[in-house]
Amino acid sequence: MSVSVVLKNACTTCGEGPHWDETTKSLFFVDIIAGDCHQWNSQTGDHDKIHTGNPTSFIVPREKGGFVIGQGLKLVHLDWHTKTQKTILTAEKDKPTNRFNDGKCDAVGRLWAGTMGKEKQPAVPDPEVGHFYMLDKEQKLHTMKDKVNISNGLTWTVDNRTLFYTHSLPRKVFAYDFDLPSGNISNERVVIDFTEKPMDKFGIPDGMTSDLNDKIWLACYFSSRVFQIDPETGKILQTIKFPVTNLTSCCFGGPNYDELYVTSSTIGVTADELKHNQPLAGSIFKVNNINAKGAPATVYQG
Ligand code: BGC
Ligand code: CA
Repeated sequence: MSVSVVLKNACTTCGEGPHWDETTKSLFFVDIIAGDCHQWNSQTGDHDKIHTGNPTSFIVPREKGGFVIGQGLKLVHLDWHTKTQKTILTAEKDKPTNRFNDGKCDAVGRLWAGTMGKEKQPAVPDPEVGHFYMLDKEQKLHTMKDKVNISNGLTWTVDNRTLFYTHSLPRKVFAYDFDLPSGNISNERVVIDFTEKPMDKFGIPDGMTSDLNDKIWLACYFSSRVFQIDPETGKILQTIKFPVTNLTSCCFGGPNYDELYVTSSTIGVTADELKHNQPLAGSIFKVNNINAKGAPATVYQG
């Protein structure tokens, strides 16, 4: 395995939500607290960004054009070219300090995304005030889980019969039976549990993706590591170490979907650490030779 830097210090706050776009051969990602959406074109090397003006937690392309972004408590259509933003809806109006966190689309183009409470410091949010939602193709929001602390990464098995979902606190990844035609989830169970594991090595489970063999690639905050894990046994199959502690998410990309792109955060890294110990915090990394491949990412069809 070899880790390289794609964009040094691309994010000044919390890099997140990497999405490989097949059409433009680009990596899209966000810098949450900065409120920026980024595009890095792998063919030209161009790096472009749009400042949305509010915390922006994920970006996924929309079949009809443009993107859907999570922005504060809003889901918003963003037109990259005109920079126009149009609100689809606002969630949790009674909890104005909450915000959306990670989001992704399922194989038929529904959007799944969750919220979290305001953090006093990384991974210390107002407890149990978040939710996990599904936005259907008619742009109607459905609550799939409540009492969420930090809603985080998600991914599906290749057969779309299982949804994996990171609930960052209590440091667990859940699996659900997933019914693709209806979007129903059921039979919640824990497949990865870090509650008894040392924080400095395992950290907080965050964003994730899965490969064509249904193994999970889990980026972990405070851990410096991405783990490849077998969700059937909970066994760690491979560990990738990075020169920064706060890894936030990962996705497959590149011409053959065999490169892993990883985002990172500077939040919780002191100015002194940033200068001396982890000057690459906030960078985008790429990992080659991982002996795994992913599938192209899905987009919102509403
Ligand atoms: C959130 C951060 C949080 C981190 C660790 C990220 O997905 O956006 O706010 O601190 O996870 O749990
Ligand atoms: Ca995340």
